[in-house]
Amino acid sequence: MAEETLSLVGPAFLKGEVTVSGSKNLALPLLATVPLFSSKFVFCNVPNILDVHIMLRTLSSMGIDFSWRGNTLELDCCKLRYIDLISPALSELRASFLFVASFLSRFGHAVIKKPGGDQIGDRPVDIHLEGLKSLGYEANFEGDVIRFRRVRQVSDAEFVLKYPSVGATEQLIIASVVGSGRKVFRNIATEPEVKHLISWLSSCGGKINLYPEQRVVEIESVSFLSAQQAFFVPGDRIEGITWLLAGLLCGNDEIVVKGVYYEDLDNVSGLFKSLGVQFQEDKIISKRLNGFANLNIVAEPYPGFPTDAQPMMAVLLSQGLGVGKIKDNVFPNRFAYLSELSKLGLQFEFKENTTIIVGPQKLTGNEVVARDIRAGIALVLAGLIASGTTSIKQVNHLRRGYELLETKLLSLGAKVLSDQSLEYVF
Ligand code: EPU
Repeated sequence: MAEETLSLVGPAFLKGEVTVSGSKNLALPLLATVPLFSSKFVFCNVPNILDVHIMLRTLSSMGIDFSWRGNTLELDCCKLRYIDLISPALSELRASFLFVASFLSRFGHAVIKKPGGDQIGDRPVDIHLEGLKSLGYEANFEGDVIRFRRVRQVSDAEFVLKYPSVGATEQLIIASVVGSGRKVFRNIATEPEVKHLISWLSSCGGKINLYPEQRVVEIESVSFLSAQQAFFVPGDRIEGITWLLAGLLCGNDEIVVKGVYYEDLDNVSGLFKSLGVQFQEDKIISKRLNGFANLNIVAEPYPGFPTDAQPMMAVLLSQGLGVGKIKDNVFPNRFAYLSELSKLGLQFEFKENTTIIVGPQKLTGNEVVARDIRAGIALVLAGLIASGTTSIKQVNHLRRGYELLETKLLSLGAKVLSDQSLEYVF
């Protein structure tokens, strides 16, 4: 099938209300916990996106039945069986590496393809492996496959992550929640998705104490988990930031954003409030910002500014007055998107892990390529403010994480068209 292209005609003048979908980066680890269970349970507000489909296909090949009702996902784990996790689609999806934790907990061994690097960097798994070693699991590499097996029965364990990796933190929590003894992990990631993952496991009987200020989690392993009630996946904070930025860039009138938990945006709300965004009881209101002094953004582990939103900030900085800077300390190579933005006329300088953008700049539509999901959404925002038509290729990257993208853009008044309209339907 020919590659899908998404075309936008700008400049756009947006207004209206948009509700964010469930969080991608929470839904994926939640699905990785499924092999810990032996019963039926329900997740609500699950985003119907390509990455979720890849996780579900894998669950299905393990014998887990699922069915959708709108965004409600019913799962039945009664017939779970062991499989090697080596399908090609899985190794492209980084979050699938979290199946290692639930497989080791459940079966004591796992075989998985090493996750590949991608546009945003090498993406090693050394912290995952070191942490799992502290829990008694050995990893052996055979080409691009990693074989894990339990070599020691570990009851109590303590491990310090050398960097607060989100994935490694989730891996260790999922691997430790069921079993025996007490596990303590230090220097963990405290991103909202980690907190929500802990809420889910706790609601199923997991005994997990999180001390976010100290970056510590303590786990009293329990003998089994049992889902008592449906778990609602909170709104995607990065999608929330996307619509706030759409409002700041082209909110002709107000854009009202619903469905994000305020606490999940507490690390960025100060910045956005200073740009005029209003955080009201059950909605966030954003509208066009004219003539703002340019910004200095540094992406850091939470509670720092989220790396997943930094490519979109480059588009905002192109409209600020004077020198703006973006530095990424999480993924220092996450700047490949700049060369695509430059095809729309964006000028920038780049040194080490920092880009300098002097605004305001005028952008003009052109053909561009979405090289990853966050690069892709930055191109969508740029296409909204650029004059003329912006055609974005490799839209599959956007399909990995943005549910109903065109539907939401159209409802806000954008002129947007896919040549294949591949939005997923239930
Ligand atoms: N790192 C290591 N060794 C490891 C693990 C990570 O050196 O064993 C390094 C990475 O190379 C990177 C840094 O630590 O430089 C942060 O990586 P982290 O492990 O925190 O990221 P992740 O768990 O692989 C998740 C999100 C990413 C998001 C990052 C940071 C999911 C599925 N992915 O990735 O989301 O950027 O945390 O917040 O939750 C996205 O949605 O576009 C995306 C890439």
